[in-house]
Amino acid sequence: MKGLILSGGKGTRLYPLTYTRAKQLIPVANKPVLVRVIEAIRDAGITEIGIVTGDTEPEIRDAIGTGKRWGVEITYIPQDEPLGLAHAVKISRPFLGDDRFVMFLGDNVIEGGVATLIRQFGESEWNAQIVLTEVDEPQHYGVAELNPDRSIKKLVEKPREPQSNLALVGIYMFDANVHDACEAIEPSWRNELEITDAIQWLVDQGKSVHPYVHRGWWIDTGKPTDMLDANDHVLEEIEHAVHGFVDRDSRVDKRVTVESGAEVINSVVRGPAIIGENSRIVNSYIGPFTSIYHDVVVEDSEIEHSIVLENSSIRGIAGRIADSLIGRNAIVRRSPIKPVAHKITLGDHSDIGLL
Ligand code: DAU
Repeated sequence: MKGLILSGGKGTRLYPLTYTRAKQLIPVANKPVLVRVIEAIRDAGITEIGIVTGDTEPEIRDAIGTGKRWGVEITYIPQDEPLGLAHAVKISRPFLGDDRFVMFLGDNVIEGGVATLIRQFGESEWNAQIVLTEVDEPQHYGVAELNPDRSIKKLVEKPREPQSNLALVGIYMFDANVHDACEAIEPSWRNELEITDAIQWLVDQGKSVHPYVHRGWWIDTGKPTDMLDANDHVLEEIEHAVHGFVDRDSRVDKRVTVESGAEVINSVVRGPAIIGENSRIVNSYIGPFTSIYHDVVVEDSEIEHSIVLENSSIRGIAGRIADSLIGRNAIVRRSPIKPVAHKITLGDHSDIGLL
């Protein structure tokens, strides 16, 4: 089997973070979402992985390279325009050949353990397998309606009036029949070749499409709050360990990871939380569900339920920072200069909640 990861598209809903960065490279519990996807595919025993890329290809290549670090071999497949998930499959045909493959959306984060599901498909006779899960607002997703015998009745992309609450999760498994499907379908109202329509075509042709209903958590990391949700789940799931330095005046919970080169000085860190490589936490409080990426300084401040990206600093902040996403190279500090006021240089499309 092969793996195909879709990392094209623009990520406008994560502005301003994605002005300068591919959304798939934003870290969740200090590991880019795209790396989590690569590891999930590798754990299913797949080593040949294609990544479909758009405008952010140079940055993705820079971060992932040949894939050797994860024991896989990456082929980059440039897509000129995001013309749909089925379009991405079409342009990947030379890489995929007639092999069975698993396709992952590069911005989805799912509970661990999908490797078994992928392996099962690899050994099965099914023409396709889709992963479904119950959601609150099915109109934002591809939606599946099942027959009483649990076979697929109908699949509709973002229906106005959903007939079920079972959404298509961004993991799909196919055999070579999907290529005929992608050739046969027409662009949708949003002018995209929808993979949902391609799967419906397979069902209409009498192919065996197996629906698997996933009961754990799954997050499509479109918006900043989704990143925080994914971060919460992954911080609870990972195994924690202290590799860096924690001084005697600090208190660090069991469920805290301190990466190598990081220092925690005279501070309290409540888990689940992670402190990245070479970051410094001084005279501060880091609350549960916080991920501090590498080379960050937090001094004389309190922060919880947040993600802080690399090379940023937070110093001398009086109130506690919570529910926040702080980008790279950001400076958050107490201003010593009168008048006492909020003084802000904010990027386009930023969202800030002040007291
Ligand atoms: O997240 C699950 C949903 O993903 C499914 O329920 C839907 O059926 C499916 O169509 C898809 O819907 P979205 O509208 O959320 O897909 P989005 O445009 O956000 O693209 C998903 C990923 O695929 C994203 O990482 C960008 C990448 N992509 C997207 C398109 C349209 C590509 O690489 N190429 C493309 O042409």
